Amino acid sequence: MSAKHILLLPGDGIGQEVVKEAEKVIAWFNQNRGTQFTTSKAYIGGTAYDKTGTPLPQETLDAAHKADAVLLGAVGGTQWESLDYSLRPERGLLGIRKALGLFANIRPAMCFDALADASSLKRDIIAGLDIVIVRELTGDVYFGTPRGVETLPDGTRKGINTMVYTSPEVHRIARIAFELAEKRNKKVCSVDKANVLECTEMWREEVKKIRDAEYPDIALSNMYVDNAAMQLVRNPKQFDVMVTGNIFGDILSDCAAMLTGSLGMLPSASLGAKDKNGKIPALYEPVHGSAPDIAGKNIANPIATILSFAMMLRYSFDLNKDAESLEKAVTGVLAQGLRTADIMQEGAQKVSTTAMGDAILKTLSDLNKQQKVA
Ligand code: IPM
Ligand code: MG
Repeated sequence: MSAKHILLLPGDGIGQEVVKEAEKVIAWFNQNRGTQFTTSKAYIGGTAYDKTGTPLPQETLDAAHKADAVLLGAVGGTQWESLDYSLRPERGLLGIRKALGLFANIRPAMCFDALADASSLKRDIIAGLDIVIVRELTGDVYFGTPRGVETLPDGTRKGINTMVYTSPEVHRIARIAFELAEKRNKKVCSVDKANVLECTEMWREEVKKIRDAEYPDIALSNMYVDNAAMQLVRNPKQFDVMVTGNIFGDILSDCAAMLTGSLGMLPSASLGAKDKNGKIPALYEPVHGSAPDIAGKNIANPIATILSFAMMLRYSFDLNKDAESLEKAVTGVLAQGLRTADIMQEGAQKVSTTAMGDAILKTLSDLNKQQKVA
């Protein structure tokens, strides 16, 4: 494999700590698997605001455009909550998604067997759960205009956000979901609120058009978002691939993530359209946030970030075997009974962020030796 450049954006809070563990994993692959990853770091979020006065400095954007892939930690923190919207850490994240055209957010929610008892749901409802939420990421009320808050002549205030989708935006995200489903169980559930919102009724119709024309072998169902939220906690295993808009996907993916026992375990990939050089812009990040309450204590769970790097190996670099070994190493460490605080269970061994990273590396090395012997 030729040299590939990864831009690291640790961001805020525990983002700093969990990205450090991913860096160790990247170095391990260079040393042991012949990859030639180079890395550099840039600021994003509140940290970027503190250093440069903006949550998304131009330098960061330039570096992201140049990189072969981006790995992000998390953004946000209470100290930035009173800033103007345009300066808040979250703007940095939304800005980079938009600037790189990352319209497809892929959020797998799988239940690790060792953690099936850590879910708030009963074991049999979530054991073996393996679903993927495909969330549209650059449209909807997140970006629609008009938006803002205005004060009317009588002194009342009016807040406005606008839900907007165009049919090409729906088509491209639908295709991502159908392509994924082709490699899985050929089942897609499109989630909307077509009984109330015209925008999402159009979404429903356009998703069906793409299925009928291009993916006739995929079983497509539709569900209203309120029902989908209910069904996710009632019987999540009925789903395989779910596809939905930005705001519904934001909410449903947190819900699905928590089902699996810990938000600290789940990775995500955000992908754009192939450019003229064949490159697909891609940003990988854990689904969890910056967790300011536990930041700097070396107790955060680095697994979601490490699994995000596994997704990078798979989607950006086509290194499926390496992605699999990394995922196996994570499962192995869990099976050994090691747990960070967020997934701690009776009888398990509580470990720090750095110790979890080290344990994953050690298991990776053991797996690597076994493979060489075999
Ligand atoms: C997510 C987060 C972000 C979002 C925030 C931090 C802007 O909740 O990635 O799900 O709403 O998209
Ligand atoms: Mg969210």
